[in-house]
Amino acid sequence: MRLDKFVSYTLDITRSDSKRLIKAETITVNDKLITDIGFNIDENVDIVKYLDDVLEYEKYIYLMLNKPQGYISATIGNEPTVLDLISEYKKYKLSIVGRLDKDTEGLILLTNDGALNHILTSPKSSIYKKYYVEVAGVFKEEDVELFKNGLNITDGKGNLYTTLPAKLEIINNTSAYISIKEGKYHQVKKMCSKVGKEVVYLKRIQIGKINLDPNLELGEYRQLEEDEIKYLNSLT
Ligand code: URA
Repeated sequence: MRLDKFVSYTLDITRSDSKRLIKAETITVNDKLITDIGFNIDENVDIVKYLDDVLEYEKYIYLMLNKPQGYISATIGNEPTVLDLISEYKKYKLSIVGRLDKDTEGLILLTNDGALNHILTSPKSSIYKKYYVEVAGVFKEEDVELFKNGLNITDGKGNLYTTLPAKLEIINNTSAYISIKEGKYHQVKKMCSKVGKEVVYLKRIQIGKINLDPNLELGEYRQLEEDEIKYLNSLT
């Protein structure tokens, strides 16, 4: 990668500011002063410093966020977006992996790893997303079978759609865990409505084997750990 591109990316500055810094003799590569803006580096091997600070190149970033209500799962909009909560990662141009409704809380993954995003959100993905749900109404044992057999709902385009087998684990009369493989528009709410219950609270708690970190307060986020990234990469 060209040195000016690397400096611009890692310091989150414009290309012309990056060129200026290089020409101003502030950048070293492997402890050698470099003033040639077109100098080529191996970003995975070479140690590039701005004054005394090592510039870290992270190709892929994976974040988990505990989404609060009131934020939309979009990159731009007139309302607060989940990206507003992770503004320090703006330069990485992260995408949201699987949307949550504005009034849904919980686990959202964000990454700039397009291949992974595709795998996790593909309709063919066989990865369960698990939700904790509270309803107005009463869960009945027979609902378990109905969820398992698939329910007829409408998708985001208004077409009739039969859901894939879903797991309903009843906690008590009004709360349950629901695991689904797809992510149709308002899917959990529509499935509950189909069996006569209105969702009053919804929180995603798991995507595949990735659990929402219980130490994350609403609005907090962290980078995924090595084993979590390894697991996700095993899916691609
Ligand atoms: N299902 C819903 O109805 N809403 C969400 O936010 C996620 C799944």
